[in-house]
Amino acid sequence: MPTQIITNIKQLVNVREQTHVLRGSELAELPVLGNAYLIIENGIIAGYGEMKDAPKAFPTGGGVEGAVLPAWCDSHTHLVFAGSRENEFVDKIKGMSYAAIAAKGGGILNSAKKLNETSEDELFNQAWMRLLEVSKLGTGAIEIKSGYGLSVQGELKMLRVIKKLKEKSSLTIKSTFLGAHTYPVEYKENHQGYIDLIINEMLPVIAKEKLADYIDVFCEQNFFSTEETETICKAGMQYGLKPKLHVNQLNSIGGIETGIKLNAVSLDHLETLSPAEINVLGNNPPLLKEVWMGLCTLLPTAAFFLRMPMQPARQLIDNGGAVALASDYNPGSSPGGNMNFVVALSCIQMKMLPEEAINAATLNGAYAMETGNNLGSITIGKKANLIFTKPIPSLAYLPYSFSTNLIDKVMIGGEFI
Ligand code: NIG
Ligand code: FE
Repeated sequence: MPTQIITNIKQLVNVREQTHVLRGSELAELPVLGNAYLIIENGIIAGYGEMKDAPKAFPTGGGVEGAVLPAWCDSHTHLVFAGSRENEFVDKIKGMSYAAIAAKGGGILNSAKKLNETSEDELFNQAWMRLLEVSKLGTGAIEIKSGYGLSVQGELKMLRVIKKLKEKSSLTIKSTFLGAHTYPVEYKENHQGYIDLIINEMLPVIAKEKLADYIDVFCEQNFFSTEETETICKAGMQYGLKPKLHVNQLNSIGGIETGIKLNAVSLDHLETLSPAEINVLGNNPPLLKEVWMGLCTLLPTAAFFLRMPMQPARQLIDNGGAVALASDYNPGSSPGGNMNFVVALSCIQMKMLPEEAINAATLNGAYAMETGNNLGSITIGKKANLIFTKPIPSLAYLPYSFSTNLIDKVMIGGEFI
Protein backbone atom coordinates (compact mmCIF):
# COMPACT_ATOMS: atom_id res chain seq x y z
CA MET A 1 0.00 0.00 0.00
CA PRO A 2 1.54 3.37 -0.96
CA THR A 3 2.07 5.98 1.75
CA GLN A 4 -1.00 8.17 2.18
CA ILE A 5 -0.67 11.81 3.15
CA ILE A 6 -3.82 13.62 4.20
CA THR A 7 -3.37 17.39 4.39
CA ASN A 8 -5.29 20.44 5.63
CA ILE A 9 -7.48 18.50 8.06
CA LYS A 10 -9.64 21.05 9.84
CA GLN A 11 -9.61 19.11 13.13
CA LEU A 12 -7.61 15.99 13.94
CA VAL A 13 -9.21 14.54 17.05
CA ASN A 14 -7.87 12.44 19.92
CA VAL A 15 -4.23 12.92 19.05
CA ARG A 16 -1.98 11.35 21.67
CA GLU A 17 1.70 10.48 21.84
CA GLN A 18 0.99 7.66 24.27
CA THR A 19 -2.22 6.24 25.66
CA HIS A 20 -3.63 4.66 28.79
CA VAL A 21 -7.12 3.97 30.15
CA LEU A 22 -8.84 7.30 30.85
CA ARG A 23 -10.28 7.60 34.37
CA GLY A 24 -12.45 10.25 35.97
CA SER A 25 -11.51 13.80 34.97
CA GLU A 26 -9.08 12.56 32.29
CA LEU A 27 -12.11 11.69 30.17
CA ALA A 28 -12.90 15.36 29.61
CA GLU A 29 -9.54 16.01 27.95
CA LEU A 30 -9.77 15.40 24.21
CA PRO A 31 -6.62 16.58 22.44
CA VAL A 32 -7.31 18.15 19.02
CA LEU A 33 -4.94 19.52 16.37
CA GLY A 34 -6.29 22.27 14.11
CA ASN A 35 -5.27 22.44 10.44
CA ALA A 36 -3.37 19.19 10.58
CA TYR A 37 -1.80 16.52 8.39
CA LEU A 38 -1.76 12.76 8.84
CA ILE A 39 0.56 10.15 7.32
CA ILE A 40 -0.53 6.52 6.93
CA GLU A 41 1.83 3.71 5.93
CA ASN A 42 0.58 0.19 5.29
CA GLY A 43 -2.64 0.92 7.11
CA ILE A 44 -0.84 2.23 10.21
CA ILE A 45 -0.64 5.81 11.47
CA ALA A 46 2.95 6.86 10.75
CA GLY A 47 2.93 10.59 11.49
CA TYR A 48 0.85 13.68 12.13
CA GLY A 49 1.27 17.33 12.94
CA GLU A 50 0.13 20.84 12.16
CA MET A 51 0.31 22.02 8.55
CA LYS A 52 2.67 24.85 9.53
CA ASP A 53 5.21 22.17 10.52
CA ALA A 54 4.56 19.92 7.51
CA PRO A 55 7.50 18.86 5.33
CA LYS A 56 7.83 21.21 2.29
CA ALA A 57 7.43 18.28 -0.11
CA PHE A 58 3.82 17.62 1.01
CA PRO A 59 1.04 18.03 -1.55
CA THR A 60 -0.62 21.42 -1.08
CA GLY A 61 -4.17 21.12 -2.49
CA GLY A 62 -6.98 19.02 -1.14
CA GLY A 63 -8.03 19.30 2.42
CA VAL A 64 -10.60 17.83 4.77
CA GLU A 65 -13.37 20.27 5.65
CA GLY A 66 -14.64 18.16 8.53
CA ALA A 67 -12.99 16.45 11.48
CA VAL A 68 -10.98 13.23 11.42
CA LEU A 69 -11.38 11.10 14.48
CA PRO A 70 -10.58 7.52 15.49
CA ALA A 71 -13.29 5.07 14.42
CA TRP A 72 -15.66 3.91 17.16
CA CYS A 73 -14.56 0.95 19.27
CA ASP A 74 -17.80 -0.84 20.17
CA SER A 75 -16.75 -3.13 23.03
CA HIS A 76 -20.07 -4.87 23.81
CA THR A 77 -22.41 -6.32 21.19
CA HIS A 78 -24.48 -9.41 20.43
CA LEU A 79 -24.28 -8.77 16.67
CA VAL A 80 -24.73 -12.44 15.70
CA PHE A 81 -28.41 -13.31 16.07
CA ALA A 82 -31.22 -14.77 13.98
CA GLY A 83 -34.21 -12.71 12.92
CA SER A 84 -35.73 -10.01 15.08
CA ARG A 85 -38.14 -9.53 18.01
CA GLU A 86 -40.35 -6.59 17.12
CA ASN A 87 -43.38 -8.56 18.38
CA GLU A 88 -41.96 -8.25 21.92
CA PHE A 89 -41.34 -4.58 21.27
CA VAL A 90 -45.07 -4.21 20.69
CA ASP A 91 -45.88 -6.36 23.79
CA LYS A 92 -43.77 -3.92 25.82
CA ILE A 93 -45.62 -0.95 24.38
CA LYS A 94 -48.81 -2.64 25.55
CA GLY A 95 -47.42 -2.87 29.08
CA MET A 96 -45.53 -6.16 29.50
CA SER A 97 -42.21 -5.97 31.38
CA TYR A 98 -38.85 -7.29 30.11
CA ALA A 99 -38.86 -9.82 32.98
CA ALA A 100 -42.44 -10.93 32.21
CA ILE A 101 -41.62 -11.45 28.53
CA ALA A 102 -38.56 -13.51 29.49
CA ALA A 103 -40.62 -15.59 31.95
CA LYS A 104 -43.08 -16.69 29.22
CA GLY A 105 -40.34 -17.96 26.91
CA GLY A 106 -39.74 -14.72 25.08
CA GLY A 107 -36.59 -12.68 25.27
CA ILE A 108 -33.30 -14.52 25.04
CA LEU A 109 -35.07 -17.92 24.75
CA ASN A 110 -37.04 -16.65 21.76
CA SER A 111 -33.78 -15.65 20.02
CA ALA A 112 -32.21 -18.98 20.98
CA LYS A 113 -35.08 -20.90 19.36
CA LYS A 114 -34.67 -18.89 16.15
CA LEU A 115 -30.89 -19.27 16.19
CA ASN A 116 -30.96 -23.03 16.60
CA GLU A 117 -33.29 -23.26 13.58
CA THR A 118 -30.97 -21.11 11.42
CA SER A 119 -28.05 -22.53 9.42
CA GLU A 120 -24.51 -21.35 10.05
CA ASP A 121 -24.34 -19.81 6.56
CA GLU A 122 -27.58 -17.90 7.00
CA LEU A 123 -26.47 -16.70 10.43
CA PHE A 124 -23.20 -15.53 8.93
CA ASN A 125 -24.99 -13.65 6.15
CA GLN A 126 -27.26 -11.82 8.59
CA ALA A 127 -24.32 -10.90 10.84
CA TRP A 128 -22.23 -9.80 7.84
CA MET A 129 -24.93 -7.35 6.77
CA ARG A 130 -25.04 -5.87 10.28
CA LEU A 131 -21.25 -5.60 10.38
CA LEU A 132 -21.30 -3.73 7.06
CA GLU A 133 -24.04 -1.47 8.39
CA VAL A 134 -22.14 -0.51 11.58
CA SER A 135 -18.83 -0.06 9.77
CA LYS A 136 -20.48 2.53 7.52
CA LEU A 137 -21.63 4.24 10.71
CA GLY A 138 -18.03 4.53 11.84
CA THR A 139 -17.38 1.41 13.89
CA GLY A 140 -13.86 0.12 13.26
CA ALA A 141 -13.54 -2.43 16.08
CA ILE A 142 -16.20 -4.53 17.70
CA GLU A 143 -16.69 -7.19 20.35
CA ILE A 144 -19.29 -9.86 19.56
CA LYS A 145 -20.79 -12.35 22.02
CA SER A 146 -22.35 -15.77 21.70
CA GLY A 147 -25.27 -16.51 24.03
CA TYR A 148 -28.24 -17.17 21.76
CA GLY A 149 -27.29 -20.81 21.22
CA LEU A 150 -27.68 -22.13 24.75
CA SER A 151 -26.87 -25.62 23.42
CA VAL A 152 -23.48 -27.07 22.59
CA GLN A 153 -24.18 -26.94 18.85
CA GLY A 154 -25.83 -23.51 18.98
CA GLU A 155 -23.08 -21.83 20.98
CA LEU A 156 -20.34 -23.35 18.82
CA LYS A 157 -22.23 -22.30 15.68
CA MET A 158 -22.37 -18.70 16.90
CA LEU A 159 -18.69 -18.64 17.83
CA ARG A 160 -17.70 -20.16 14.47
CA VAL A 161 -19.69 -17.41 12.75
CA ILE A 162 -17.77 -14.80 14.78
CA LYS A 163 -14.50 -16.52 13.80
CA LYS A 164 -15.48 -16.31 10.13
CA LEU A 165 -16.37 -12.64 10.54
CA LYS A 166 -12.89 -12.09 11.99
CA GLU A 167 -11.31 -13.83 9.01
CA LYS A 168 -13.34 -12.03 6.35
CA SER A 169 -13.61 -8.52 7.76
CA SER A 170 -10.97 -5.80 7.98
CA LEU A 171 -12.51 -4.60 11.23
CA THR A 172 -10.82 -5.63 14.47
CA ILE A 173 -13.14 -8.17 16.09
CA LYS A 174 -13.06 -9.74 19.57
CA SER A 175 -15.12 -12.79 20.45
CA THR A 176 -16.80 -13.50 23.79
CA PHE A 177 -18.36 -16.77 24.97
CA LEU A 178 -21.67 -16.01 26.71
CA GLY A 179 -23.06 -19.54 27.08
CA ALA A 180 -24.32 -18.33 30.48
CA HIS A 181 -26.81 -15.85 29.02
CA THR A 182 -29.86 -17.63 30.46
CA TYR A 183 -30.83 -21.17 31.45
CA PRO A 184 -32.38 -23.16 28.60
CA VAL A 185 -35.90 -24.43 29.44
CA GLU A 186 -34.75 -28.02 29.96
CA TYR A 187 -32.23 -26.87 32.60
CA LYS A 188 -34.49 -24.41 34.41
CA GLU A 189 -34.63 -26.66 37.47
CA ASN A 190 -31.17 -28.13 36.93
CA HIS A 191 -28.69 -25.28 36.98
CA GLN A 192 -25.75 -27.53 37.77
CA GLY A 193 -26.58 -29.62 34.68
CA TYR A 194 -26.25 -26.59 32.38
CA ILE A 195 -23.13 -25.32 34.14
CA ASP A 196 -21.61 -28.79 33.66
CA LEU A 197 -22.50 -28.58 29.95
CA ILE A 198 -20.74 -25.20 29.69
CA ILE A 199 -17.67 -26.41 31.54
CA ASN A 200 -17.33 -29.94 30.17
CA GLU A 201 -18.83 -29.76 26.67
CA MET A 202 -18.50 -26.18 25.45
CA LEU A 203 -15.32 -24.71 26.94
CA PRO A 204 -12.92 -27.50 25.87
CA VAL A 205 -14.01 -27.19 22.21
CA ILE A 206 -13.94 -23.38 22.36
CA ALA A 207 -10.38 -23.54 23.69
CA LYS A 208 -9.27 -26.16 21.17
CA GLU A 209 -10.65 -24.25 18.17
CA LYS A 210 -9.64 -20.85 19.64
CA LEU A 211 -13.20 -19.61 19.30
CA ALA A 212 -13.24 -16.96 22.04
CA ASP A 213 -11.13 -14.21 23.59
CA TYR A 214 -13.35 -13.58 26.65
CA ILE A 215 -15.99 -15.16 28.85
CA ASP A 216 -19.20 -13.40 29.88
CA VAL A 217 -22.08 -14.28 32.25
CA PHE A 218 -25.44 -12.53 32.68
CA CYS A 219 -25.15 -12.09 36.46
CA GLU A 220 -28.72 -11.16 37.41
CA GLN A 221 -31.70 -12.22 39.50
CA ASN A 222 -33.45 -15.19 37.81
CA PHE A 223 -30.44 -15.62 35.52
CA PHE A 224 -26.99 -16.45 37.01
CA SER A 225 -26.13 -15.93 40.69
CA THR A 226 -22.81 -14.50 41.81
CA GLU A 227 -21.66 -17.99 42.86
CA GLU A 228 -22.62 -19.45 39.46
CA THR A 229 -20.94 -16.49 37.74
CA GLU A 230 -17.74 -17.14 39.66
CA THR A 231 -17.72 -20.88 38.90
CA ILE A 232 -18.27 -20.33 35.16
CA CYS A 233 -15.71 -17.52 34.88
CA LYS A 234 -13.08 -19.49 36.75
CA ALA A 235 -13.59 -22.42 34.36
CA GLY A 236 -13.15 -20.06 31.40
CA MET A 237 -10.11 -18.43 32.95
CA GLN A 238 -8.41 -21.84 33.07
CA TYR A 239 -8.44 -21.66 29.27
CA GLY A 240 -7.18 -18.07 29.24
CA LEU A 241 -10.57 -16.40 28.71
CA LYS A 242 -10.79 -13.26 30.82
CA PRO A 243 -14.19 -12.14 32.12
CA LYS A 244 -16.25 -9.27 30.70
CA LEU A 245 -19.54 -9.38 32.56
CA HIS A 246 -23.19 -8.32 32.35
CA VAL A 247 -23.85 -6.98 35.86
CA ASN A 248 -26.38 -4.72 37.62
CA GLN A 249 -28.68 -4.28 34.63
CA LEU A 250 -31.96 -4.90 36.46
CA ASN A 251 -30.87 -5.60 40.05
CA SER A 252 -27.84 -5.29 42.25
CA ILE A 253 -27.05 -8.83 43.45
CA GLY A 254 -23.32 -8.50 44.13
CA GLY A 255 -22.01 -8.83 40.58
CA ILE A 256 -19.70 -5.85 41.01
CA GLU A 257 -17.80 -7.45 43.89
CA THR A 258 -17.66 -10.75 42.03
CA GLY A 259 -16.42 -9.06 38.86
CA ILE A 260 -13.72 -7.14 40.68
CA LYS A 261 -12.63 -10.28 42.54
CA LEU A 262 -12.30 -12.02 39.15
CA ASN A 263 -10.39 -9.01 37.81
CA ALA A 264 -12.87 -8.57 34.94
CA VAL A 265 -11.60 -6.59 31.94
CA SER A 266 -14.90 -4.72 32.03
CA LEU A 267 -18.16 -4.64 33.97
CA ASP A 268 -21.00 -3.82 31.63
CA HIS A 269 -24.56 -2.40 31.83
CA LEU A 270 -24.56 -0.88 35.38
CA GLU A 271 -28.05 0.64 35.17
CA THR A 272 -28.69 -0.23 38.85
CA LEU A 273 -25.92 0.97 41.16
CA SER A 274 -25.82 1.88 44.85
CA PRO A 275 -23.65 4.82 45.96
CA ALA A 276 -21.22 2.32 47.53
CA GLU A 277 -20.94 0.44 44.22
CA ILE A 278 -20.31 3.68 42.34
CA ASN A 279 -17.45 4.35 44.71
CA VAL A 280 -16.00 0.87 44.29
CA LEU A 281 -16.18 1.15 40.49
CA GLY A 282 -14.28 4.43 40.71
CA ASN A 283 -11.53 2.45 42.38
CA ASN A 284 -11.69 4.60 45.47
CA PRO A 285 -9.10 3.19 47.88
CA PRO A 286 -10.87 3.09 51.26
CA LEU A 287 -13.64 0.90 49.90
CA LEU A 288 -11.74 -1.41 47.63
CA LYS A 289 -9.59 -4.25 48.83
CA GLU A 290 -8.23 -5.23 45.43
CA VAL A 291 -7.06 -2.61 42.93
CA TRP A 292 -9.28 -3.01 39.89
CA MET A 293 -8.09 -1.42 36.66
CA GLY A 294 -11.06 -2.51 34.54
CA LEU A 295 -13.62 -0.49 32.62
CA CYS A 296 -17.23 0.41 33.35
CA THR A 297 -18.96 -0.15 30.02
CA LEU A 298 -22.23 1.73 29.76
CA LEU A 299 -24.90 0.78 27.22
CA PRO A 300 -27.28 3.75 27.14
CA THR A 301 -29.29 2.59 24.12
CA ALA A 302 -30.33 -0.54 26.08
CA ALA A 303 -31.62 1.58 28.98
CA PHE A 304 -33.31 3.87 26.46
CA PHE A 305 -34.97 1.04 24.53
CA LEU A 306 -36.17 -0.73 27.71
CA ARG A 307 -37.34 2.57 29.23
CA MET A 308 -35.09 2.11 32.23
CA PRO A 309 -33.27 4.80 34.17
CA MET A 310 -30.01 5.67 32.44
CA GLN A 311 -26.68 4.52 33.85
CA PRO A 312 -25.20 7.01 36.34
CA ALA A 313 -22.35 8.06 34.04
CA ARG A 314 -21.87 11.42 35.74
CA GLN A 315 -21.44 9.93 39.21
CA LEU A 316 -19.15 7.18 37.89
CA ILE A 317 -16.88 9.68 36.15
CA ASP A 318 -16.98 12.17 39.04
CA ASN A 319 -15.94 9.33 41.35
CA GLY A 320 -12.95 8.40 39.19
CA GLY A 321 -14.50 5.63 37.06
CA ALA A 322 -13.02 4.56 33.69
CA VAL A 323 -16.14 4.73 31.55
CA ALA A 324 -16.46 3.15 28.09
CA LEU A 325 -19.54 3.36 25.84
CA ALA A 326 -20.88 0.54 23.69
CA SER A 327 -24.00 -0.24 21.65
CA ASP A 328 -25.07 -3.64 23.06
CA TYR A 329 -26.45 -4.31 19.53
CA ASN A 330 -28.89 -7.20 20.08
CA PRO A 331 -32.47 -8.10 19.08
CA GLY A 332 -34.00 -7.66 22.55
CA SER A 333 -32.72 -4.57 24.30
CA SER A 334 -30.83 -2.57 21.68
CA PRO A 335 -31.74 -3.47 18.09
CA GLY A 336 -29.17 -1.20 16.52
CA GLY A 337 -25.44 -0.56 16.64
CA ASN A 338 -25.21 3.11 15.73
CA MET A 339 -22.37 4.40 17.93
CA ASN A 340 -23.08 7.99 16.83
CA PHE A 341 -26.44 7.69 18.56
CA VAL A 342 -24.81 6.02 21.60
CA VAL A 343 -22.49 9.03 21.91
CA ALA A 344 -25.35 11.50 21.46
CA LEU A 345 -27.60 9.72 23.96
CA SER A 346 -24.77 9.70 26.49
CA CYS A 347 -24.53 13.46 26.24
CA ILE A 348 -28.28 14.10 26.09
CA GLN A 349 -29.48 11.72 28.79
CA MET A 350 -26.42 10.94 30.94
CA LYS A 351 -24.90 14.43 30.86
CA MET A 352 -21.55 13.29 29.58
CA LEU A 353 -19.57 16.05 27.89
CA PRO A 354 -19.00 15.53 24.15
CA GLU A 355 -15.26 15.10 24.91
CA GLU A 356 -16.01 12.46 27.55
CA ALA A 357 -18.38 10.57 25.28
CA ILE A 358 -15.94 10.57 22.34
CA ASN A 359 -13.09 9.34 24.54
CA ALA A 360 -15.36 6.67 26.06
CA ALA A 361 -16.46 5.44 22.62
CA THR A 362 -12.96 5.40 21.13
CA LEU A 363 -9.93 5.01 23.41
CA ASN A 364 -11.66 3.51 26.45
CA GLY A 365 -13.72 1.26 24.17
CA ALA A 366 -10.46 0.00 22.70
CA TYR A 367 -9.12 -0.71 26.18
CA ALA A 368 -12.34 -2.56 27.04
CA MET A 369 -11.31 -4.98 24.25
CA GLU A 370 -7.64 -4.90 25.33
CA THR A 371 -6.74 -3.26 22.03
CA GLY A 372 -5.91 0.13 23.52
CA ASN A 373 -2.34 -0.09 22.29
CA ASN A 374 -3.55 -0.56 18.69
CA LEU A 375 -6.74 1.44 18.39
CA GLY A 376 -8.86 4.27 19.71
CA SER A 377 -6.65 7.32 19.15
CA ILE A 378 -4.48 9.10 16.58
CA THR A 379 -1.17 7.70 17.78
CA ILE A 380 1.87 6.64 15.75
CA GLY A 381 1.85 2.87 15.34
CA LYS A 382 -1.90 2.45 15.76
CA LYS A 383 -4.18 1.05 13.05
CA ALA A 384 -5.59 3.74 10.75
CA ASN A 385 -9.27 3.26 11.58
CA LEU A 386 -10.74 6.70 11.01
CA ILE A 387 -13.99 8.60 10.70
CA PHE A 388 -14.03 11.59 8.32
CA THR A 389 -16.96 13.82 9.20
CA LYS A 390 -18.86 16.23 6.97
CA PRO A 391 -18.10 19.89 7.70
CA ILE A 392 -19.16 20.63 11.30
CA PRO A 393 -18.88 23.90 13.26
CA SER A 394 -17.40 22.15 16.33
CA LEU A 395 -17.09 18.67 17.84
CA ALA A 396 -20.07 19.27 20.13
CA TYR A 397 -22.13 19.45 16.92
CA LEU A 398 -21.79 15.65 16.56
CA PRO A 399 -23.93 14.68 19.61
CA TYR A 400 -26.01 17.87 19.33
CA SER A 401 -27.19 17.11 15.83
CA PHE A 402 -28.09 13.60 16.96
CA SER A 403 -30.33 12.48 14.13
CA THR A 404 -28.20 13.68 11.21
CA ASN A 405 -25.64 11.36 9.64
CA LEU A 406 -22.50 13.48 9.81
CA ILE A 407 -20.14 10.78 8.57
CA ASP A 408 -18.58 11.49 5.20
CA LYS A 409 -16.17 8.54 4.90
CA VAL A 410 -14.83 5.71 7.03
CA MET A 411 -11.33 4.26 6.76
CA ILE A 412 -10.42 0.84 8.14
CA GLY A 413 -6.74 -0.11 8.21
CA GLY A 414 -5.85 2.63 5.74
CA GLU A 415 -8.59 1.80 3.22
CA PHE A 416 -11.81 3.69 2.65
CA ILE A 417 -14.82 1.39 2.86
O1 NIG B 1 -27.14 -7.06 27.09
N1 NIG B 1 -29.10 -8.49 29.36
C1 NIG B 1 -28.66 -9.44 28.76
N2 NIG B 1 -28.45 -9.57 27.46
C2 NIG B 1 -28.74 -8.61 26.45
C3 NIG B 1 -30.15 -8.65 25.99
C4 NIG B 1 -30.52 -9.97 25.52
C5 NIG B 1 -31.83 -10.04 24.81
O2 NIG B 1 -32.84 -9.50 25.27
O3 NIG B 1 -31.82 -10.69 23.76
C6 NIG B 1 -28.33 -7.23 26.89
O4 NIG B 1 -29.14 -6.31 27.07
FE1 FE C 1 -25.34 -7.20 26.37
